[in-house]
This record gives sequence, C-alpha cells and structure tokens, in this order.
Amino acid sequence: MVTIRPYRATDREKVREIAFETGFMGESVAWYWGDMRSFSDIWTAYYTDLEPESTFVAEDADSVMGYLLGCVDTKRAPSPLSAITHQLIRRQLLFRFGTAGFIWRSIWDLLRNPSVLSGEVSDPRWPSHLHINLLPAARGNGTGRRLMQAWLARMRSVGSPGCHLGVFAENTNAIAFFRHMGFELYGHPLLVPGMRLTSGARMHLQLMVLTLDSPAAKQGNGADRP
Ligand SMILES: CC(C)(COP(=O)(O)OP(=O)(O)OC[C@H]1O[C@@H](n2cnc3c(N)ncnc32)[C@H](O)[C@@H]1OP(=O)(O)O)[C@@H](O)C(=O)NCCC(=O)NCCS
Repeated sequence: MVTIRPYRATDREKVREIAFETGFMGESVAWYWGDMRSFSDIWTAYYTDLEPESTFVAEDADSVMGYLLGCVDTKRAPSPLSAITHQLIRRQLLFRFGTAGFIWRSIWDLLRNPSVLSGEVSDPRWPSHLHINLLPAARGNGTGRRLMQAWLARMRSVGSPGCHLGVFAENTNAIAFFRHMGFELYGHPLLVPGMRLTSGARMHLQLMVLTLDSPAAKQGNGADRP
C-alpha cells in the first residue's frame, strides 16, 4: 500500500538517492555522472530546502519510493544552467573522475551545435514546473497519477494557472504518462549537450505544458479519482 503525503525534512536523503538512481529515464545516472552530491544538489536541493511545501512523496510500509518536486513560480528557482555552473565550480566537476568526461563532451557539443541549456518555459500561462521520479518497484500502479493529483491540488490552492516540465524526448514511457495526465508537447525536441543514449546517439529535450483548467487536464489527471 503506497501512501502519498507532503514532504518532510527527514525524507531529504532518500529523495536525493532516488534522483540519482532514477535520473536517466528511470535508471541510474552513475554511468555518466559519478558524483551523487552535485547531481542531487542540482536537481533536488531547491525543492527540498527552499520550497518543501510543493514537494510530495510516495511511501510504502518501509520507505519513500518516489517523489514529485514542484515549484510554483519558476522565476524563484535557480535555472538548471546556474545550478550546474555553481556545482561545476564548487565540486570541480571539470576535473573530477566520474563527471569530467560528461562535462568536456557537453562543451564539445556546445561548440559544434546550438543546444538547449534550460528545461524551462518562460510563459505566464505555465509558471510552475515539476520533476517526478519513482523507484522501479513503485511504477505502473497509479502512484505517479496520485502524486500528480497532489501537485495539481497544490497548484490550485495557490492559484497557479499551469505548469511545464522537461523530459528526454527518448523517454517515450514518461511522455505517454504525461500525455495521459493532460500535458501537451510544447515546441520541438532540442539537442541536449553532453547527453547520449548507451548506443552513443545524441539525446533531446522535449518541453511539455499543462493548463490547469483545460478539458485535457481535467479529463487526463483524473482529479476526482481515488
Ligand atoms: C513516469 C512515471 C512517474 C509514471 O508513474 P507511474 O506510477 O508509473 O504511472 P501510473 O501507474 O500512475 O499511470 C497513470 C496513468 O498513465 C498511464 N500510463 C503510464 N505510463 C504509460 C505509458 N507508457 N503508455 C500509456 N499510458 C501510460 C497509465 O495507464 C495510467 O492510466 P490510468 O490512470 O487511466 O489508469 C514513473 O513510471 C517513473 O518514475 N518513471 C521513471 C522516471 C521518469 O521517467 N520520470 C520522468 C522524468 S521527466
């Protein structure tokens, strides 16, 4: 039995671990980013430390199994680029075993092609954003949908009109899930510097948006379902 509840400070370490263990389309990021501390700081610290009221966790009898990290007003959070730059200096990622290869490849990619550096949508229609990740054992049982319902209730309570997210275009399962929740594609997939599939192929970022009171959102997220 999985419970959905608001985040507590004691969940912080587990949230950081789950981000690291599921950050590559549901799998561990360790093969390309071998520094959990900087990865978790970049992708979870703002939400757990500065806007914990917008974060929800899924918990079974033993442990936290997943989370939804939310931000009501994206302008208040550091952009991914500024969070990465901060960690680049603080953790010396350019020279750290486990991250140097990825960072130098990103610089090489940027020199060769224009790539997307931010997973954000700057549009007042979708000011909020989220990240959602579950451990494998928690997937496919409605837990993602229930986390999304908790987040949508939070958005309603603070009067946000809509939210956006960035997902790897190659993560077709997640895109199908978000579509099912009422999200729509926003723009075309954009190259992401440094990111590769295990085949070596380059990866892309797809932005998606959800207007809170759109028919698709009301139908898709099933806000009235248990
Ligand atoms: C993506 C993720 C959050 C979805 O959560 P989940 O608990 O597995 O999804 P749910 O079981 O709640 O599915 C909710 C609905 O979406 C549908 N859905 C989920 N995945 C789907 C897919 N691949 N194709 C079609 N429909 C899908 C379900 O059928 C379900 O429909 P219903 O509510 O009408 O019964 C979860 O699988 C996950 O953490 N994946 C790995 C990490 C990841 O990729 N995160 C996104 C990064 S941006």
